[in-house]
Amino acid sequence: MSERQPSLPPAEPAPWSAPQPGSAHGSPTVLVTGGTGTTGSRVVRMLREEAPSARVRLASRHPDPDGERADPGVEAVRFDWRDPLTHAAALRGADRVYLVAPVAEADPAPLVETFLHAARRAGVRRVVALSSSAVAEGAPGLGRVHRMVRELFPDGWTVLRPSWFMQNFLGDHPLAEGIRRDGTMVTATGAGRLPFVDAEDIAAVAVRALLDDAPHNTAHLVTGPEALDYGTAAEIISRVSGRPVRHQPVSVAERAARYVAGGYPADFAAALAELDAAIRDGLQEEVSDVVRRLTGRPPRSFAAFAQAHRDAWRAPVGADGRGPAS
Ligand SMILES: NC(=O)c1ccc[n+]([C@@H]2O[C@H](COP(=O)([O-])OP(=O)(O)OC[C@H]3O[C@@H](n4cnc5c(N)ncnc54)[C@H](OP(=O)(O)O)[C@@H]3O)[C@@H](O)[C@H]2O)c1
Repeated sequence: MSERQPSLPPAEPAPWSAPQPGSAHGSPTVLVTGGTGTTGSRVVRMLREEAPSARVRLASRHPDPDGERADPGVEAVRFDWRDPLTHAAALRGADRVYLVAPVAEADPAPLVETFLHAARRAGVRRVVALSSSAVAEGAPGLGRVHRMVRELFPDGWTVLRPSWFMQNFLGDHPLAEGIRRDGTMVTATGAGRLPFVDAEDIAAVAVRALLDDAPHNTAHLVTGPEALDYGTAAEIISRVSGRPVRHQPVSVAERAARYVAGGYPADFAAALAELDAAIRDGLQEEVSDVVRRLTGRPPRSFAAFAQAHRDAWRAPVGADGRGPAS
């Protein structure tokens, strides 16, 4: 683990900084876009746990009626960013929104703008939007979404700027597939460090921003407790799983080519690879105290995350690198 962790300045407690379970006014109706995704699914679960009287609407292109029956407190609605006709029905009666902008969209802003205007007309008063630590307000893509949310909901906005998710080391992310295939994580980040964050912690911050009495009206940098390079992450995974894993640094151009080979569109692949260069250059190292300040508990460390998921990397590898051969 890195020993160069920046020390945190003591933060001024904000009025909304203490956890206040169930403090929402009345019973909000919260529309969770990306409700089947990494953060959205956790936001749905935590809203149900923390505000049982809230109505939670899970938006998906493929709503699961069985899921709806399984939890009568969750209403699954069909929602497609590319189909504005689905927006009105999803927004009906909603007063708060968790917003995951359309992924793999070169410029999500126009689709989100249409939606946000519809949300205002429908009576939404609070929007909590997911962006990224790698994206500044106003930058192309999510940066434009960030600005739009602040400008259209000046009295009820929050933007989450999480660091890179620990969950990228699991599932079908290229990093995870590389680990399962041949124990190699390929990046162009060199020895650059990142304060990897658990999606559970991102969702916990999102839920505070959705439920706290006062809207946060700010952007939160959401990080884990320390910045690590991929080589150190590989050492931790090796230690807990017993499977040798290493970091293989490559150039930015090779990283982009590998994303394309993995099925990503060329422009998206190039943009993702450029993010590695920023990490390599030390621009993504900042650690924040947001998780602790808003939830009252420390963010999960990468070592604890890896320990909890050690079996995911122990599994025997199939020919496609996706898991056990059948
Ligand atoms: N991974 C990281 O390290 C990292 C770090 C910082 C920020 N981020 C940001 O996190 C965001 C992704 O969030 P996430 O990881 O929570 O989501 P995710 O797991 O990538 O899932 C994407 C979600 O978007 C929904 N979706 C996709 N296309 C849609 C469409 N056309 N209409 C409606 N819904 C659609 C999917 O729902 P259905 O398939 O059910 O429709 C799914 O729930 C991205 O903006 C990324 O930039 C990621």
